[in-house]
Amino acid sequence: MYSNAGSPPPPPPTAAAAQKRTVPELRARKGGEPLVMVTAYDYMMARLVDEAGVDMVLVGDSLGMIVQGLANTIPVTLDEMVYHTRAVARGLARSHLVGDLPFMSYQTSPQQAIESAGKLMKDGHAESVKLEGGLEVAEHVYRIVRAGIPVVGHVGLTPQSVHALGGFKVQGRGRDEAEKVLADARALDDAGVFAIVLEAIPPDLADAVTRAVSVPTIGIGAGNACDGQVLVCTDLLGMMRGHTPRFAKRYAELGDSIVDAVSRYAGEVRSRAFPGKEHTFKPNAQDPRGPGSQEAARDEHALDAPLALDLWH
Ligand code: KIV
Repeated sequence: MYSNAGSPPPPPPTAAAAQKRTVPELRARKGGEPLVMVTAYDYMMARLVDEAGVDMVLVGDSLGMIVQGLANTIPVTLDEMVYHTRAVARGLARSHLVGDLPFMSYQTSPQQAIESAGKLMKDGHAESVKLEGGLEVAEHVYRIVRAGIPVVGHVGLTPQSVHALGGFKVQGRGRDEAEKVLADARALDDAGVFAIVLEAIPPDLADAVTRAVSVPTIGIGAGNACDGQVLVCTDLLGMMRGHTPRFAKRYAELGDSIVDAVSRYAGEVRSRAFPGKEHTFKPNAQDPRGPGSQEAARDEHALDAPLALDLWH
């Protein structure tokens, strides 16, 4: 059933000193210091958000939109989730890694759900999995948890159901809808999830859900009464062009910084200001040991070493 994913990835440099967040610790944060979760889709971002000290990193199927440029998450495959989750795993020394189960990788049957969750753990090196839905997936969650795989639930706006919901809209408005969100969250709690993402619901409903369940709630567009918050990394870093959701605060404008840096690079290449002397190796003609000497060749390799070490640790 599983592909041979090879030996576990080398840990980031700080892994020895770092304390990995565990599922029991995260669960015990209910009502305590808010949990900090952020998405990441590759090794580079994983290292940076881990260094920033977040508690949980989610490899969300939002990668369909952020990385692949799709209109929604529906086409994302389990193999794609495995690929990105494995890259992120290599970058995390202390944050807990949650892998998202994509559309139609768990809805068909509890058996399918266990197999997909197992693949994300074994091949993707996820430490837990997240899936969308409430009552309708409660049995699937129960079976995955019984197989020894920790699960994060996700209710409210569930983007994999974008067509059924009629768009990316706030959920849980009105009594019936609010009761459904509450019932879904309770069903997930009973099935054994260790946390529940609440997406795009009114803050008073998020507060009620948070008080109704025994596990931490992690909000995104759900106000500040939740036990934690999650944001998509590119939203909080101001990297995405176009629409930013109302609930996503931009803590930086890295998109503008990148365009500015690359424009300056382009200008310097065109004017031949780059590369300057400081970015250029010594000409053969100026090496006192003579062009092509063994010593000169050794120095060239020494200059390359830090780059190689940094790339491969
Ligand atoms: O896919 C994702 O990034 C998510 C978060 C928005 C919670 O599900």
